[in-house]
Amino acid sequence: MTAPAPSPPPKPGGLETKRFLIVTGKGGVGKTTVCAAEALALAAKGKRVLVCMCNAKERLSVMLGSELIGSEIKNVASNVWAVNMDPEIALAEYGMMALHSKTLFKLLFDNKYVRTFFRAVPGMSEWTMLGKAWWHTTETRPEGGWVYDVVILDAPATGHGLDRLRVPKIILDVVPAGLLRRDAELAWKMFQDPEQSAVVLVTLPEEMPTTETIELAHALRDELKLPIGKIVVNCVLPPLFSKDERASLEALAPAADELAGEAVLASGRRRASRERVQAESLHRLAQELPISPSYLPQLFEDAAQPSAIRDLSKRMT
Ligand SMILES: Nc1ncnc2c1ncn2[C@@H]1O[C@H](COP(=O)(O)OP(=O)(O)OP(=O)(O)O)[C@@H](O)[C@H]1O
Ligand SMILES: [Mg+2]
Repeated sequence: MTAPAPSPPPKPGGLETKRFLIVTGKGGVGKTTVCAAEALALAAKGKRVLVCMCNAKERLSVMLGSELIGSEIKNVASNVWAVNMDPEIALAEYGMMALHSKTLFKLLFDNKYVRTFFRAVPGMSEWTMLGKAWWHTTETRPEGGWVYDVVILDAPATGHGLDRLRVPKIILDVVPAGLLRRDAELAWKMFQDPEQSAVVLVTLPEEMPTTETIELAHALRDELKLPIGKIVVNCVLPPLFSKDERASLEALAPAADELAGEAVLASGRRRASRERVQAESLHRLAQELPISPSYLPQLFEDAAQPSAIRDLSKRMT
């Protein structure tokens, strides 16, 4: 495979200069952990941050030590708010906003035919959540300034994540001109603007996640034209062995340690092979991605607790 043409360098300015962050990656790689740590890091820089989860089995509250996070926005840490978006509730909110009337909304949307129609529109339930997250970037305070300086979308795992990101584009293609289409246009414009938005890709230093992250980065750049602002390689181990030591340990036949009765050799060999895979993955990511990744260490305590998230947040830039 030929190396991709280099992308234009990312715009200057870290994530704190953005209004909308989309955190995505394969399932279980640490997206919510990164959202939590990034939210605390941005809040420490004086930003008002809203984290929007997409109808998730909610774990952010455990990570931040807050109450359970439901479909109502909740203050979960100093300068950090969070919501677990529910597509039906988001649709109701959107309908009420669009129609400027709760009564009219109820009249229309409590009608089961209308609801069935909306469920049948492709991507409608995804759009209600993406659209809601975007809409929070437009809210202003009576005294001036944004209600939230930065909105972080904790996007669903890739595959689904990318489908969801395609939704505003689909709406632009299929929905006739009107309010919904106008909002989808505004949202899409913001998501594509590298001054205002950034995709944060989260991955692990392993073979499959590395391949998928490289593919995702290419799809974001070539197909969706969404700016990648940061790539986080999570769970990086501090290397214990040099390249030669890794090779020697891995060359030991499995029988050798049994003969020697040395469990320690077996664990050394496992560690050496994990370090080799990690080194190969980091090399591929550095070669094939448009920007240099940042690294988060593998924690050996429970990472889903506030003290660990605070530690990780100090490593966010
Ligand atoms: N750097 C780390 N060191 C150790 N454990 C970690 C680290 N990062 C994340 N974890 C743990 O890995 C698990 C998955 O993390 P997380 O929930 O953030 O992933 P996710 O990508 O949001 O998952 P999902 O796709 O299910 O939403 C959690 O138990 C989390 O505490
Ligand atoms: Mg998650």
